[in-house]
Amino acid sequence: MGIHYQQENRIFTLQTEHATYQMKVDNFGFLLHLYYGGKITGSMDYLLTYYDRGFSGNPFDAGADRTYSMDVLPQEYPVLGTGDYRNSALVIRNGDESECCDLRYVSHRIYRGKYALKGLPAVYASEEEAETLEILLEDSASRVQVKLLYGVLEKEDIITRSAEISNCGTGSIIVEKAASACLDFMTGDYDLLSFWGRHVMERNLQRREIAHGSFCIGSRRGTSSHQYNPAVILAGKDTTEEHGGCYGLVFVYSGNFMCEAERDQYGQTRMLMGLQSDLFHYSLEQGENLTVPETILSYTDKGFGQLSIQFHRCILNHICRSKYRDQPRPVILNSWEAAYFDFDGETISRLAENAAALGIDMVVMDDGWFGKREDDNSGLGDWQVNERKLGCTLKELIEKVNGVGVKFGIWIEPEMVSEDSILYREHPDWALRIPGRKPVRGRNQLVLDFSREEVREAVFDAVCRVLDQGNVEYVKWDMNRSITDIYSMQDKQGRVAYDYVLGVYDFLEKLTTRYPDMLIEGCSGGGGRFDAGMLYYTPQIWCSDNTDALDRVLIQYGTSFLYPISAVAAHVSAVPNHQTGRSVSLHTRGVVAMTGAFGYELDPGKLTDEEKEEIRKQVRQYKKHEELIRKGDYYRLSDPFRDAHAAWQFTSENGDRVLLNVVMLETHGNMPVTYVKLRGLKADKVYEDTDTGKRYQGSALMEAGMPMPVEPGEYLARQIELYVRQ
Ligand code: GLA
Repeated sequence: MGIHYQQENRIFTLQTEHATYQMKVDNFGFLLHLYYGGKITGSMDYLLTYYDRGFSGNPFDAGADRTYSMDVLPQEYPVLGTGDYRNSALVIRNGDESECCDLRYVSHRIYRGKYALKGLPAVYASEEEAETLEILLEDSASRVQVKLLYGVLEKEDIITRSAEISNCGTGSIIVEKAASACLDFMTGDYDLLSFWGRHVMERNLQRREIAHGSFCIGSRRGTSSHQYNPAVILAGKDTTEEHGGCYGLVFVYSGNFMCEAERDQYGQTRMLMGLQSDLFHYSLEQGENLTVPETILSYTDKGFGQLSIQFHRCILNHICRSKYRDQPRPVILNSWEAAYFDFDGETISRLAENAAALGIDMVVMDDGWFGKREDDNSGLGDWQVNERKLGCTLKELIEKVNGVGVKFGIWIEPEMVSEDSILYREHPDWALRIPGRKPVRGRNQLVLDFSREEVREAVFDAVCRVLDQGNVEYVKWDMNRSITDIYSMQDKQGRVAYDYVLGVYDFLEKLTTRYPDMLIEGCSGGGGRFDAGMLYYTPQIWCSDNTDALDRVLIQYGTSFLYPISAVAAHVSAVPNHQTGRSVSLHTRGVVAMTGAFGYELDPGKLTDEEKEEIRKQVRQYKKHEELIRKGDYYRLSDPFRDAHAAWQFTSENGDRVLLNVVMLETHGNMPVTYVKLRGLKADKVYEDTDTGKRYQGSALMEAGMPMPVEPGEYLARQIELYVRQ
């Protein structure tokens, strides 16, 4: 059992296989945080120290005891207005406009299984795999209640946190800020690893010291964003890929978020992960409640590599729900970079014939098949097949594609509307707009108000009418702008940004229920909504609109820290690359795209016979290793932001099969030899390179590495398969 409660000192201990999390209800009823880190037994309340600290207030109940202050004590769920002046997890504006909420322990409940969150994605697990702890806190003056939720997946070394805020009083209140996780550390020096980026260059790694002050990342874009990903790592100063303590925090949410790291006046560190407080004033009437999306926590003392493995397993096995969680992903040929808007039914059929000849499983008809959509200035919202453009019905087209033995997939962007569309002309009030103001446009389109059920329902019906026309086996769900003009024709404006995201989830839940066998791929201008919330509905996400192999090495490197490789959709595209103008060999493009759900984004009709032959080989190679790539342990073997080469490795769970990938990022005259050290092998076993027949001792490959051949040429790549000799 992972959750223990000691009645005599009111201590809660959450145990996972290699970590311990502990908290305590103290004499005043405050819930104090005691410890999160490597496994320990016993009570950690001896760590709490009490001194009279100037300008740090004392709760009234402490009487004359000036040594007791919320400003100094580590807390589970710090609230503004209690005398704690650090960043808070919760800010409540009461009916009388006061900003205060004094939460004290009321009761708790422990049960088998993992809690679920209504309307929100969350980690799921069976009764054997997980346990839940609920702790109820209350502010007696306002009768605001907060239920803190903890899910413990012992074997996975995962702890999840969420919070439910309820207004049990008589007046109305406003939640101004709400986090789901707070981690207080009484001691230690830490770095924060975060993943920043921009469109076509997502998830660059930044490592910085948590210094005095507050460092904040987040999104106000309505989506989790290209700019900052809602997933961070808190690490010791010396932590590396292979050594040292580190904590991952992954927010299971696809909208505005805020993550704060603060070092306080006594050198204590506080981490918060939760909803963005800008554009958020969530009013709660009597009896209403708000659920704060979940944060997944994990700790290891074995460095970033092990932390990644823990998150990869958790997200693939306990977040992704599609049947494709456990099934090979189809190799896709997508029409976007092959033809953009310039296609008809013939083009798609030709792509399908080429796909069939190359061993590719599926053709995806991307943007441009509906309404009036010859470019990206019109048509969004009109989800009717443009049969004139296609030259046939959708059913006929799909039959042709299926007829050559290829599956069919389609692109949609349900949340959007073009002003030049029938939908907008009929329902201008369905778009998010602030009355009396001109809206901010993005990609010349507006955003539909998905917080409104009638809007969602109308779009859902239109989309289903398309999907029901034939054997559609895949949908790419896109979202191509950041949201502004957060204002709904309904009341309660401060709720709209949050309710919008729940509207998207509601739509996706209905879609996945109605089409349980369909593979849905998430997308937002590539990786603008690459988060664990979306992965609950879409087991893979188009990782970036940047298909340049060299840039993808960096983007996929950053993504791999907290998201599983199976979640990363990656395609080989034409050269010169459409985003960077760079030319990289087909082999290198293949090696890079095989680190994910694999596919192509080019017109095979324009390739030479040799290139086609190479693609056939790539597809065979990918299919051979698909399961290893989707489910295997993934290791980063270099830092491509620093090293002259990128190297990464997939290893089967039993360590018997290995796929090593290396891309040379730099070329110089008279190059030194690159030695790549492998990880996670069986030290005492002999591994054989299936290509060359060369044999290596596992321990030697891990300790001394494998030399890469020095050859002239730019961006050369190698993919080496190793098997244990029986
Ligand atoms: C976004 C996607 C692309 C493509 C286009 C279509 O940018 O990321 O892959 O689907 O939209 O407009």
